[in-house]
Amino acid sequence: MRVLVTQPIDPAGRALLDAAGLDVTVHPGPAPMTPAALREAVRGCAGLISMPTDRIDGDVLDAGPVRVVAQHAVGLDNVDLDAARARGVVVTNTPGVLTDATADLAMALLLAASRHVVAGDRLVRRGGFQGWRPMMLRGLDLAGARLGIVGFGRIGRAVARRAAAFGMEVVHSGRPGADDGLPFDTLLATSDVVSLHCPLTPATHHLVDAAALARMKPTAVLVNTARGPVVDEAALAAALRAGRLAAAALDVFEAEPVVHPDLLDLDNVVLAPHLGSATWQTRRAMATKAATNLLAFVGGQAPPDRVV
Ligand code: GLV
Repeated sequence: MRVLVTQPIDPAGRALLDAAGLDVTVHPGPAPMTPAALREAVRGCAGLISMPTDRIDGDVLDAGPVRVVAQHAVGLDNVDLDAARARGVVVTNTPGVLTDATADLAMALLLAASRHVVAGDRLVRRGGFQGWRPMMLRGLDLAGARLGIVGFGRIGRAVARRAAAFGMEVVHSGRPGADDGLPFDTLLATSDVVSLHCPLTPATHHLVDAAALARMKPTAVLVNTARGPVVDEAALAAALRAGRLAAAALDVFEAEPVVHPDLLDLDNVVLAPHLGSATWQTRRAMATKAATNLLAFVGGQAPPDRVV
């Protein structure tokens, strides 16, 4: 069976595919393939290991024709699941193994934005540090602050555990329409930090829009390690510029790798290049999990992380 891997992955994952005798092609990257190049590259491949940067639609599935998509990520918003269902294509993802790494990064961003770590670094580098000042770069105390977690799945819960260790009061709201946790509007209005951990779906697209931002405290901090389009970036930039929101930290963007130009000029936003799961151990586990799912399908077994 021929398999296309759309980016170089940890060698542990590749080794599993090779050991099973599959005919593996790895796109060298680092830039993702254009949709046309992806359709061309997948021709003759029944197996696909895909990344969040690939748009996997019906045309890509037909070009193979692909029978199994093993996504090397937990989020699946880049895969047209209906198109997969309609064609009987099996789709898997990599849940669990990236929970802690992503929660760690959410805390890193939360701390960085709350305590002006990156703005302070810029100040020092440009020679602006003139010594300790009682009023300089004051930030948010985490102890006693309320953290509102939006999307209380594996990663949201892992962030809650970490935040509790910092003395934060943790509240959450579930998916829109779900009745667990606080109503979303109450969470927005009462939280000192809001951290997003929901998947990107039609229901969560621009969940944090101008109206949602207007409900937040002007002293609040927004952290997004979920998916860029959950936040209306233009509205966020306007709120940050106008001082209607104290700070934000973003690991994901609406049109990656493009960052809204208004955000680039602001000192009160921390920008990270989609690093949530980027640790050695986690990326190795993700590569292994994607390969294991694909190999289960090839061996006629149920892939452990089958979504479709
Ligand atoms: C990465 O963003 C993932 O969904 O795993």
